[in-house]
Amino acid sequence: MSIKVTWYSHACILIQTGDANLLVDPFLTGNPLAPIKADQVPADYILVSHGHGDHVGDTIQIAKRTGATVISNYEIQNWLVGQGVQNVHPQHIGGGFNYPWGRVKLTIAHHGSILPDGSYGGNPCGFLFYVKGKKIYHACDTGLFYDMKLIGEEGIDLAVLPIGDNFTMGPDDSLRAVKLIQPKQVVPIHYDTFDVIKQDPAAWKKRVEQETSTRVALLKPGGHLEL
Ligand code: NI
Ligand code: MN
Repeated sequence: MSIKVTWYSHACILIQTGDANLLVDPFLTGNPLAPIKADQVPADYILVSHGHGDHVGDTIQIAKRTGATVISNYEIQNWLVGQGVQNVHPQHIGGGFNYPWGRVKLTIAHHGSILPDGSYGGNPCGFLFYVKGKKIYHACDTGLFYDMKLIGEEGIDLAVLPIGDNFTMGPDDSLRAVKLIQPKQVVPIHYDTFDVIKQDPAAWKKRVEQETSTRVALLKPGGHLEL
């Protein structure tokens, strides 16, 4: 069975491996573009890249409803346990772990991570998934960094990259990121949710496909692709 990757707008994606539903950064409530509600979205695992409200989002509610295991850094785990989340698996940057459905490694991200109540959220991260022979890199919120080249050396099938600017990489740096990572396919994210991150994804797609051999999959919120 193929792997289904659905974009729920902003940085929220759902990876369905056939064995497990992996939900990343579930910011749905209060997200004007969200195509699904927090009480409907499936999750066996929830991955949280950093402490900001537009990434922790509905994690607590979804974890309590589904019993999903939350994967994130140790500092965010401690905070989630304090909020009544029962199933957590802390990892940290550079570390990978083999789950029943595949492996995930935490990668560096240049950003902040304070939690919604002001608690310390450790360092932000991205995620590198190894699922059924495919490698999916979700950069989450980050600026451009040259070590993306190291991530690319692993041979990335799908990269999920922010293009919104202001809080993360904008279109120019995301294009440079594609050149460093050289993924087979890329999905742009973290744009249009708010006025300050409005972008033209079709124009970005054109530039990427002119200057690299990476294919750009433009998804609408709720849209998906298969690997
Ligand atoms: Ni953020
Ligand atoms: Mn963000």
